[in-house]
Amino acid sequence: MFTLEDISLIIEESDQEIMILHNINLQLEAGKMYALTGPNGSGKSSLARVAMGIYKPTGGQVFLNGEDITSLGITERARRGIGYAFQQPPRFKGMQVKDMLEYAFKYSDGVNCQVLRQIGLCPEDYLERALDSSLSGGEMKRIEIATMLAQNPKVRIFDEPEAGIDLWSFEQLINVIGESHRDNATTMVISHQEKILNMVDEIILMEGGTVSMRGDRDTIWPQIKESARCSCRRSCQMEEEIYADCPR
Ligand SMILES: Nc1ncnc2c1ncn2[C@@H]1O[C@H](COP(=O)(O)OP(=O)(O)OP(=O)(O)O)[C@@H](O)[C@H]1O
Ligand SMILES: [Mg+2]
Repeated sequence: MFTLEDISLIIEESDQEIMILHNINLQLEAGKMYALTGPNGSGKSSLARVAMGIYKPTGGQVFLNGEDITSLGITERARRGIGYAFQQPPRFKGMQVKDMLEYAFKYSDGVNCQVLRQIGLCPEDYLERALDSSLSGGEMKRIEIATMLAQNPKVRIFDEPEAGIDLWSFEQLINVIGESHRDNATTMVISHQEKILNMVDEIILMEGGTVSMRGDRDTIWPQIKESARCSCRRSCQMEEEIYADCPR
């Protein structure tokens, strides 16, 4: 069980405190797949960063199978079996793709570089490529996902894995993420894609830095669609009122 208990995150910027996350309580079970969705800026990636130990929460605690890991950094959390595939994967000057995979294998039980084939890259072409800006956004994203597959962690968080992946490979990517899920693993996919939301057990909706809805896919997805339609109707209505006097 991966637990986020009463998480809050305040970031200071130009002498101002910005509340990014508040009152987040989530229990994520092993064997289940979750989708975390919500509007841009609602705090999904920030929550993933708190889970991975990149951001230290201002309040609250993080537990992995009952152990309080709040004070642990990224490396310790990776050792304990938490993996995060970034929304925008960082580039590492001086490192090659094979170095990254070797590093990931250290935490796994012996997956090989077939992971590159799984996500549609030829190991022969990519193992010795530099992990720098010479890789396209989509290639970098695939390597990030391959690294997660190699690491094979117990808690795996994919942050918008579909971003930058071409249409032809999208189905393949969904299958790979679905197939890589294990009974003893917790998978959380941050996504706006209906196809991804359709393959999970539970959907978690974030709005304004907090969890506003959570439940099984068949209950929550129709509610999200309806609330999106309502807010669209509301903003159209407001626009009509605001611009009522404008010459058309
Ligand atoms: N280090 C930071 N400094 C200042 N503001 C930040 C920082 N990190 C996050 N934020 C702000 O917190 C809010 C939530 O950001 P976050 O990246 O978590 O959103 P998101 O839900 O992942 O959005 P998206 O769907 O666009 O990826 C945004 O308004 C963002 O600008
Ligand atoms: Mg994000």
